[in-house]
Amino acid sequence: MPVKVAVTGAAGRMGKLIVKNVVEDEELELAQAFDVREVGRDAGELAGVGSVGVPIIHASELESKLNADVLVDFTAADAAVENICIAAKKGVKLVVGTTGFTDEHWKRIKECCSVPAVISPNFSVGVNVFWEIIKKCAELLGSYDLEVLEIHHRFKKDAPSGTALKAVEILKEVVGERKVVMGRNGICPREDEIGVFAIRGGDVVGEHTVFFIGMGERIEITHRAWSRQAFAGGAIKAVKWISKVEEPGIYGMKDVLGL
Ligand SMILES: NC(=O)c1ccc[n+]([C@@H]2O[C@H](COP(=O)([O-])OP(=O)(O)OC[C@H]3O[C@@H](n4cnc5c(N)ncnc54)[C@H](O)[C@@H]3O)[C@@H](O)[C@H]2O)c1
Repeated sequence: MPVKVAVTGAAGRMGKLIVKNVVEDEELELAQAFDVREVGRDAGELAGVGSVGVPIIHASELESKLNADVLVDFTAADAAVENICIAAKKGVKLVVGTTGFTDEHWKRIKECCSVPAVISPNFSVGVNVFWEIIKKCAELLGSYDLEVLEIHHRFKKDAPSGTALKAVEILKEVVGERKVVMGRNGICPREDEIGVFAIRGGDVVGEHTVFFIGMGERIEITHRAWSRQAFAGGAIKAVKWISKVEEPGIYGMKDVLGL
């Protein structure tokens, strides 16, 4: 029996790619598609894979209509929190790629997420390995100055990226609590801090660099994604993995990939 997948944000950049990947995968079945735009349009047609007989349903009907094994959410932070709570209430497992959650959002997610869920700010296999590498590098070069730079397309709403914030979290886990400085302006001598910079422009899919800077040398570790398929492929792996998990909880791609 194929895993029945519903998608929220099905008319978005990532949502359309998830629809395409689900439709093209024999182990999965596109059960439903939700968005607040393009309502009534065929989700497959929107995704460029031809009509699949699954019309986009308005997201306001998620609570009354959701019927799937796994809900994949790539929307926006406020919307995703609502969608997570609705899916959990209905016993539908989750794969969530949406970023930009505040501490308040996380509090609600943890309260209501009573189903198995993979929530990751980056589903690419490469970025998950990048996180492991920067952890190792921080263990070896923790006394160096640490800086994080990310570059994304001009349409990205949140900054810095969830991936950059996760990188900062990993660095702090290794080197201890440090002040995080989001960009610099004016008189700002460097203290024991981690600087974070966000560049926005064009159609850059997603690039992240962590700098380990010492006196007379530096190491730069960079991950570049040039196709959203890097994220979609990982999200599909997560859908298949979570469909077999029975223990409720919030899992990461690290669990999916066994890193
Ligand atoms: N985790 C990852 O690997 C990864 C990769 C890329 C993007 N993202 C994140 O995924 C999110 C979406 O990115 P995008 O580039 O596809 O954005 P997008 O703006 O192209 O798509 C978002 C879609 O969500 C829809 N939407 C808004 N509110 C909704 C609701 N309540 N219910 C259902 N649909 C709703 C919008 O109409 C839009 O079609 C962002 O937070 C982005 O940072 C994560």
